[in-house]
Amino acid sequence: MIGPLRSRLLDLVMGHPALVELRRRTLARAGGLVLELGVGTGRNLPLYRPPVARVLAIDPDRAHLSRARTRAAHASVPVGLVAATAEALPFPDHAIEAAVSTWCLCSIPDVERALAELHRVLRPGAPYAFVEHGLCPEPGIARWQHRLTPIWRRIAGGCRLDRPIASLIARAGFVVERLETGKLMPGPRLAAWTYLGLARAREA
Ligand SMILES: C[S@@+](CC[C@H](N)C(=O)[O-])C[C@H]1O[C@@H](n2cnc3c(N)ncnc32)[C@H](O)[C@@H]1O
Repeated sequence: MIGPLRSRLLDLVMGHPALVELRRRTLARAGGLVLELGVGTGRNLPLYRPPVARVLAIDPDRAHLSRARTRAAHASVPVGLVAATAEALPFPDHAIEAAVSTWCLCSIPDVERALAELHRVLRPGAPYAFVEHGLCPEPGIARWQHRLTPIWRRIAGGCRLDRPIASLIARAGFVVERLETGKLMPGPRLAAWTYLGLARAREA
């Protein structure tokens, strides 16, 4: 699909009103210099408020970034948009004070590498606030998530339905301090099983 159309579609899907409260709850846990992974079309950008001092937001998709640029221009805090992948973050070690990801760990090809990179750039003890969809603990649903992921990936921009979000984050050197899971958004549990939480980067 061509860039602007793909981007418009993503913007429509991610603009669902039911997601706004989950975004707000996630962003409220960030402060200082914040790194947002996979910013997409910038749906979070209008929601950042102090104590967030500045947002650095990355995404590899230039069409999404171009749409995010308009939202960045009207944000309440300064925003820098960077074309980059989460697997190779263009920032020095321990330079970032907080991190945010919203519905993007599902789409990052090498999520373990991305989380290791996030851990590298975060200051020890820094918060990482996330809201993600992923693997459901109910075996019947999980089975379907595994079965459908190969097809779903092709039609949904690389999105996997079956990532065990909390364990991936913990294995990358974070302590998961708070975690709420459940069907927190509309849709079947296959795609709507949500992990909303707060992790902290452990000392390496
Ligand atoms: C479902 S969208 C979510 C966008 C945004 N976070 C939101 O809440 O609206 C997933 C995003 O992950 C991005 N993405 C895909 N591969 C990535 C990678 N390797 N590194 C960082 N972001 C990536 C996509 O370009 C897309 O913008």
